[in-house]
Amino acid sequence: MTAIDFRGRDLLGMAELSAAEIRYLLDAVPPFKEVSQRDIKKVPTLRGKTIVNLFFEPSTRTRTSFEIAGKRMSADVINVSVATSSLSKGESLRDMADNLAAMQVDLLVVRHQVAGVPHMLARYLSIPVINAGDGAHEHPTQALLDLFTIEERLGSLRDKTVLLVGDIANSRVARSNIFAMRKLGMRVRVCGPRTMLPPGLERLGVEVSSDFDEAIQDADVVMMLRIQRERHGEVLFPSPQEYAERYCLTAERLRRAKAEVLVLHPGPINRGLEIAPEVADGLASAILQQVTNGVAVRMALLYLILGGS
Ligand code: CP
Repeated sequence: MTAIDFRGRDLLGMAELSAAEIRYLLDAVPPFKEVSQRDIKKVPTLRGKTIVNLFFEPSTRTRTSFEIAGKRMSADVINVSVATSSLSKGESLRDMADNLAAMQVDLLVVRHQVAGVPHMLARYLSIPVINAGDGAHEHPTQALLDLFTIEERLGSLRDKTVLLVGDIANSRVARSNIFAMRKLGMRVRVCGPRTMLPPGLERLGVEVSSDFDEAIQDADVVMMLRIQRERHGEVLFPSPQEYAERYCLTAERLRRAKAEVLVLHPGPINRGLEIAPEVADGLASAILQQVTNGVAVRMALLYLILGGS
């Protein structure tokens, strides 16, 4: 069996990873979580390495989390301001990436509204590229932090039932999680209005439902998803009130799930639309724990890609 080694590799999606590779990444996280719990949250591990964050879409959690992760390991992290870059003067994305690589940077973190852009850059460039979210396609580091959080809270992943609720069709978080969760032996159920459930979902090995009250019943984990209005070319539900009536996770709805159910949301959350405030802030919620774990997961990933083993 070939030893798993992420040095110099891209991370573009969970579809490309084996179960063993996902397990390897998750098992690497705990020591990095410990670093973030210290009084002095800094180790010299990546001193001398340069990481560039290239975000073409808004982000609070992912961009900041990569920046903190790199800085906690003493890397230099540069956030390229896309709005004021020379793209506005007509420079192509490829030329921009080539110029960044020519400055001897060691790794590129890319978020783009078009699916496949991180993959395209990874083909051009000789430095590793991490996909920080491409259109409605994949968001692999979000899936890793979700899996890590579930395992931390529930003790294991295998045979757990996860319910993903909301805008499945436009969710890169849902796609990455479905690929990863199925590979790790989890049961996955998706739920949302028919207009938000793309055809062929069953081929990914998931159960499909439009009845939230029924689908939630034996779930170990309920992951609520944001409605991706920016990706909707047409109206997918009659009104926010009607959407909330059927698909908002309220305290009353949550009582139908297992007593020890875990509530997740990748953020940003729309309180009152996808999730009621008392649920988002309640005891079952691990939403902020996901954010905390995101830093540790990204530290582990940067470490493994930039030279560790
Ligand atoms: N979960 C997530 O990707 O959040 P941001 O869009 O704020 O990065």
